[in-house]
Amino acid sequence: MEEQKRTILSGIQPSNSLHLGNYLGAVRNWREMQQEYRCFYMMVDLHAITVTQDPETLRESSYLGIASYIAAGLDPENSVLFLQSHVSAHAELAWIFNCTSYMGELSRMTQFKDKSAKQGKNIPVGLFTYPNLMAADILLYQPHYVPVGNDQKQHVEHTRNLAERINNRYQKDIFKIPEPFIGKQGARVMDLQNPTSKMSKSVENPKGAVFLTDTDKQIMKKVKSAVTDSGSEVKTYDEASPGLRNLIDINSALSNRSHEEVANEFSGKMYGHLKVATAELVVETLAPIREKMNQLLNDKAYLNKILKTGAESAQIVAQKTLNQVYDATGFIPKVP
Ligand code: TYM
Repeated sequence: MEEQKRTILSGIQPSNSLHLGNYLGAVRNWREMQQEYRCFYMMVDLHAITVTQDPETLRESSYLGIASYIAAGLDPENSVLFLQSHVSAHAELAWIFNCTSYMGELSRMTQFKDKSAKQGKNIPVGLFTYPNLMAADILLYQPHYVPVGNDQKQHVEHTRNLAERINNRYQKDIFKIPEPFIGKQGARVMDLQNPTSKMSKSVENPKGAVFLTDTDKQIMKKVKSAVTDSGSEVKTYDEASPGLRNLIDINSALSNRSHEEVANEFSGKMYGHLKVATAELVVETLAPIREKMNQLLNDKAYLNKILKTGAESAQIVAQKTLNQVYDATGFIPKVP
């Protein structure tokens, strides 16, 4: 029965805690997909080091990430939860893709342009080849869908291009060509202080992002002080400024209602009403996750056990694909 389920795969970087954008754009959809699909969810620690990380903080954030997955409803009995660095096939296939991709296509990646602009003169090569590692993450598991937020769509397109290039080169269906799966709501949560940029984990402006580790008080404060505009009363969704629209979007994603329904509810009311109601919804959603996450973090032995089992399951699937690629490439198989 299990064999007949279609496969999905996704991941999040363990740099800092997960934020509301990661939850609404990714994890919430992953949770809903668990019954129908065979799911692989990882913490992409190899990706995190494309910018310099403090080792102890990275270790803690990786545990925090796995604890957040479980606390948010990803079931380790049902889904494969693992750390990217525990399955060496990711780095190995990424090398093959480094030899398959072109400088031109990688230079066009929006995330590379944004992140490299912040790095000054010394841009790590890993930041440039990052989409190849992501392609390896995905293609090793032969998934049908990759559930991500809007910002990762370009990387999934790149993944599809590499898969087709390899399949064509060796005239074999080595890789399944995956589709991005982008949720209807919450696919692009914006920064609360700067609503024309997406909410991100960057520590430069922690007031702009609600983290899963934030207390109820911090959440209320951040959402209530979200930047809107010089108006005072909510009108329609289309007329709303980016900041106001972001609050309506968050509210509608959390209450499973359309933008119009939410805008109608607050139409003619002061912005403060929308802010308080939205802040309360965020607290209601995140508080139980935070509590469970903190409990889990006190039990590293349990988390290590999940990671061990996850890596073992992932390794089997990943190695099978890697062997096929190595064989097609012309590498002599290792004698068992
Ligand atoms: P990352 O860690 O930046 O984000 C993880 C997931 O959260 C989504 N997301 C958002 N969704 C809505 N609004 C936002 N403001 C927001 N910010 C982030 C992202 O779209 C993503 O789905 N390269 C990836 C990680 C990765 C990956 C993979 C994903 C590595 N390998 C393989 C899928 C499959 C990244 O940096 O995501």
